[in-house]
Parts: sequence; C-alpha cells; structure tokens
Amino acid sequence: MSRWPGDRLLYGGDVNPEQWSPQTLDEDIEAMTAAGFTFATVGVFAWALLEPEPGRYELDWLERIVDRLHGAGIVVDLATATASPPPWFTRVHPRAMPVDRQGLRLSHGSRQTWCPSSEEYRHRALALVERLAARFADHPGVVLWHVGNEFGCHNLMCFCDRSAEHFRQWLALRYGTLDTLNDAWGTTFWSQRYADWADVIPPRATTAIPNPSAELDWRRFCSDAHLEHYLAERDLLRRMSPGTPVTTNFMVGFAFSGLDYHQWAPHQDVVSNDHYLGNHLPHPYTELALSADLTRGLAGGEPWVLMEHSTSAVNWQPVNLAKEPGQLARDALSHVARGADVVGYFQWRASVAGAEKYHSAMLPHAGTQTRVYAEAADLGALLRRCAPLAGSRTLADAALVYDWPSRWSTDAEATPTQEHRYIEEVRAWYDALWRAGVTCDVIGSEQDLSGYRLLIVPSLHVVGDDAAAAIRAAAESGAQVVITYFSGTVDVRDHIRLGPYPGAFAELVGVAMEEFAPLPPGALAAMSVGPERRLPDLEREHGSVWTERGRAHQDTEVVAQFSEGPSAGSPAVTRRGVGTGSAWYVATRLSPSGLDTLVAELVREAGVEVPLPSRPAGVDVVRRRRGRHTWTFVIDHGGRGVEVPLTGTDLVSQQDCAVDDPLLVPAGGVAVIQSVVDGVGTSATGSESSQVDIA
Ligand code: GAL
Repeated sequence: MSRWPGDRLLYGGDVNPEQWSPQTLDEDIEAMTAAGFTFATVGVFAWALLEPEPGRYELDWLERIVDRLHGAGIVVDLATATASPPPWFTRVHPRAMPVDRQGLRLSHGSRQTWCPSSEEYRHRALALVERLAARFADHPGVVLWHVGNEFGCHNLMCFCDRSAEHFRQWLALRYGTLDTLNDAWGTTFWSQRYADWADVIPPRATTAIPNPSAELDWRRFCSDAHLEHYLAERDLLRRMSPGTPVTTNFMVGFAFSGLDYHQWAPHQDVVSNDHYLGNHLPHPYTELALSADLTRGLAGGEPWVLMEHSTSAVNWQPVNLAKEPGQLARDALSHVARGADVVGYFQWRASVAGAEKYHSAMLPHAGTQTRVYAEAADLGALLRRCAPLAGSRTLADAALVYDWPSRWSTDAEATPTQEHRYIEEVRAWYDALWRAGVTCDVIGSEQDLSGYRLLIVPSLHVVGDDAAAAIRAAAESGAQVVITYFSGTVDVRDHIRLGPYPGAFAELVGVAMEEFAPLPPGALAAMSVGPERRLPDLEREHGSVWTERGRAHQDTEVVAQFSEGPSAGSPAVTRRGVGTGSAWYVATRLSPSGLDTLVAELVREAGVEVPLPSRPAGVDVVRRRRGRHTWTFVIDHGGRGVEVPLTGTDLVSQQDCAVDDPLLVPAGGVAVIQSVVDGVGTSATGSESSQVDIA
C-alpha cells in the first residue's frame, strides 16, 4: 500500500463538486483547510457525467477536481463511480434492471439500479473503471480506490432469469451434483426434489414457507454475487494501478445485514465502513461501538477507515434526530478508539437538490458560521493532535462471536419463535459488556479465537464442525466461554444436529436440552439459583423470549434454573469446568440486570482488565496501544462528567494529568489521554520503537 499515509489520522468525507459551480470548490478548499480536512472521497455517483452517452467518456473535469484537492494537500479516495449507472443504461440494457421477489422489474430513477448478475452491467462498469484507472493510476493525489458504493444497499437481491442462471452456476460449484444439492436442501420434504438443474430457481414469491436451506444458500449467493463484481473491479484496478490500495465501504450497522462481510474482508486492502446511528435504539452509542468493534474484527485488528458517518441528522429515518452539541466528537472518537484511523463523513457540503438535501453535512446549508461546522473544525484540529496514535491497536481481552449465516437463518420464517431476533441477543450481551467497561473484539467463528480470556457466543445457530471445535478449544485452554440458546442447533446446510440441544455444544456445556419452549411476547420466566448460590442475585431475575426443557449433566453446575413458566425445573444458566477454562450455557434472554450480574462474574473469573472500573454510567473507556504508548479514550455519553485518575497528557484539553491530579472530563465531553507504559510493554503491533510526537 505504497501511497497510504499511515503516519497520521485522516479526516474528511464525500466531496461532490460536480453538484456545484467550479468557483464553489475554491470556497470549499478554504473552508476544508480551516477545518483540518485531509481526505476526500470523490466521484461516487458521477457515472452519468463521466460517461454521458454510451462509450463517450469525459474525465477532464474529474481530473481538475483531483488536481485541486491534491494541490491543497487533501488526499483522494477515488470512486470507480459504478454504484449508479446513468438513465441511458436502462434504455440500452433493460434486462439489467433488478427484479424483485414478486417479479416486478424495477426502473431507474433512484440509485444502484442494476442486477448483480448482469453481464451488461459488469461489462459497462469495467469499461468505465478501465478509463478511470488509465487516467488516475499515476496521479500522486489518489491514495485509495473506492469500488462502487455500499454494495447491496438497495439491490441486494435480484430474482431475474439471469440471476437464476447465476445461482445455479454457484450451486453447481458448491454441490457438484443435483443429488448433493437435493440432500443439502432436504428436498424430499414437501415434494421439492429437483430432477433437472433448470428447475432450480431463486426463492421467488411462493405459496407458503420457502425451503430454509435454499433460502440460506440464496443469501450466501447474493453476498457472493456482489463480491464477484467487487473482485472484477478490484482485479482490474490492481492490474492497472498497482500500489494503490483498493476498498469498498461496508455497512456494518443496525440497518443492513445483507452481505457476509467475513467473506468480503480478506479481499480489502484496507477495511472501510459507513456507520449511521440507530436513533430508535435506547443507547445508539452502544450500537455504534458494536459496529466499530465488528469492523475492527473484519480488519483483523488493524486500523480501518470510517468512510462515512453523519455530522448531525440523516434524512432516511422516520424522524431524523439532530445531534446534540458535543455529540459529533463523541461519535467520531468512539470509532477512533476502536481502530478507525480515517474519519469520514457523508458529506462535505450539504446538497441543495436531490434525495439527500435534508441530510446533514460538514458544511451545512447555513454555511461556516454554524455550530456543526465549528464542531467539525474542532474535531479536525483534535485529530491532528492525535496523529501519534495512527497505526496503534485497540486492546481487548474479550471477544464476541458474530455470524451472518446465523443471523439469516435465525431471522427466517418457521423458527421456534419470531420474537427471537439474532441481533437483539447479540446486542443484549454486547451492551452488558459495554456497561461493564469491557472492550471486546467482535469476530467471526472462523477467526482466531485463542488468546481471549472471555468469549461470548450468542445464538450461534449455524455452526460448522471446525468452528465448534475452535470454540471448545478456547474453553479448554483457559477462556470463560459463554454459549447462549439456539446455538449449535444446525449445521452449515441448516440441518438439525441430532441429539440433545444445543447440538454442536451440548457436550461442551454439559446440558441435554430436549425441547425449546419460547415465551409469549412480554411473558417472563422467573428463576431460582442453584445449590452453590454462586450468583444469588439471579434469584430476582427473569428470562424472556426463550426457555428450554432439559437437564444438566452431573459435572455441570446449575447456576440458575427456571422456577416458573413452561420450563420450570430446567436449567437456565449453567457452568462446566473444561480444561483450564469454563463453558457456560444460558438458555434464555436475560434482562440487562441479569446480564450485568453474570458479566461481572465472568469478568472476575476471566481476569479481564477493565480500565477505570469505577466510572459513572454511560462513560465509554477504550484503550489503544503501540509499543510503550497508550491512548485512553474517555467518552462521556452519560452527560454527568467524569474524573480520570490516569497519568499522561490529554490531547483534547492539552492538559497534563496524574493519578493524584485527575483530569476532569466535562459532562458530555471526551478525553484522549496519551501515556507511556512503565518499563518496556508488550507491543500490540509488534513494534517497540514508536516515536510519539505531539504536533
Ligand atoms: C450512505 C451512502 C451515501 C449517503 C448516506 C446518507 O448509505 O453511501 O451516499 O446516501 O448513506 O446517510
């Protein structure tokens, strides 16, 4: 990644000068420079201007923009502009428009109007990329290629005939023969056995519950079909523009679950993410933190790019909440704390026309004399002072396993309860770790699980044998491993694993569950604690959503059992010693206070380090480290202020502080405390010689 400026934090966002007169760019560059803007994503939706007619390309205007930005010291993330084909594309290639599940062929008029399996789209897109690469490969200002934009955001699935053919090709590669496919999909059920490949179609609208194994493969296929297109553009860029890294912006966040980013991440030279707050959630900042931790997991712990977030309101939620004063810095630093070395916004200048004219920007409609611009400029200055932390790693002793196929299959029809949504179980556990002050990596079940003291495995419904073995190995080698209900139930084909639940994990956790007994909406199941009274506070707790009927093995401790409800007498929370660690099982959705009780015990048993254990509620504390230097991020979402007894220098207030002269972070404020670890510390990056200069 030759051109990547990894020695500082970059700051900026999407810039769309094509929406404005050329003079506006002069004003923009002045205001950008004053705001510490160093990173511009350019050309994301520029296809219609770059190729106004089929085969006629106009790239000079784009080059002028890239030159101007480069001249102002702003590095460019150049989009391949293939996210949205121009209207002529529909006229020339009507069959490249996506078809929905009901068979309706969509038209242009919005964005991402293309079928992921369309050969015409592939051909036209690559022709454009070739022109762009030929023109910009050697441009010194272009430091990153940005393929498409948010793949699958609006055109995740297409049910057209070409997609059906592509799906069959994908299935033939996966299964080889029709017999194997029939076995994998369990097609003897409901007379679905295929006698001819031509009969295999995408799960178009049908009469009743679709085949769940076929549906799961369809989700995998849709993710792979988009990935195939990404790889086609990436390979062309690598060939024509070697040395410039290639990325595409993921959408790890509450609003999207369509792509299996564990499959995508290895193909990114640097992982990028777009994140928007879910303001319908009680604490949107914990969802932000979960998404950022998952993005870092996708990046394998390396720094990543926050390609987009918003300075204030978006325009696509039912009510678009404006951010509170100070929230801009809190949100951005929550990402930086979790490994983002680039902070980007959608977008630099608020648009006057189009579907997003009510979306916030760094430069609002009202101009530079605004709170939003001022806060954005303050953040730019702060990130400049934070330059020394670029390349450092976020420290985490704990991990949570996240899995897209489990999410897809859990959220499908015909499960034991539609009240159980995968992400809600994940969030419940993540939020409890957040409240306990535990920073956790959020990783895939096939990533390296060794080395964590605490491993949470929420509702890992679909699990292969290797992943199940790796989770077992983590417990055997000393971790506290928690597995929660509905985990291990099916294999990767979505076939039940015979024997007691939780299938792949039944032996590890030492329980034999016979029957799922979910609860009606809003119902609770009271619990009592086991004879050892390890966690007496669980006596006051209730489970919701889910219970199970069964028993614990003799060598398994029943920490709590259901005392009421459909599974009264069955274990609710269990623990079994395994090797030098433990395997816990939780057979219900615990309330936040129940989770707090359990997480406190897990943190104690695991010996997980919690920086600032006695901070007030709503304060996020995360640490990054490189060599002997640490940066402790303190972010007060709680709005009460917090005293920080750490020795170092706060890069926000630019004050020194010490254990006996603590820093006072004001209500709603942030601090980034740079400290030197006594003695030679272990290095998260493997390098001991980091030189820290405060600019
Ligand atoms: C993203 C997209 C941007 C803009 C933004 C608005 O989904 O990449 O182009 O639409 O959302 O929040």
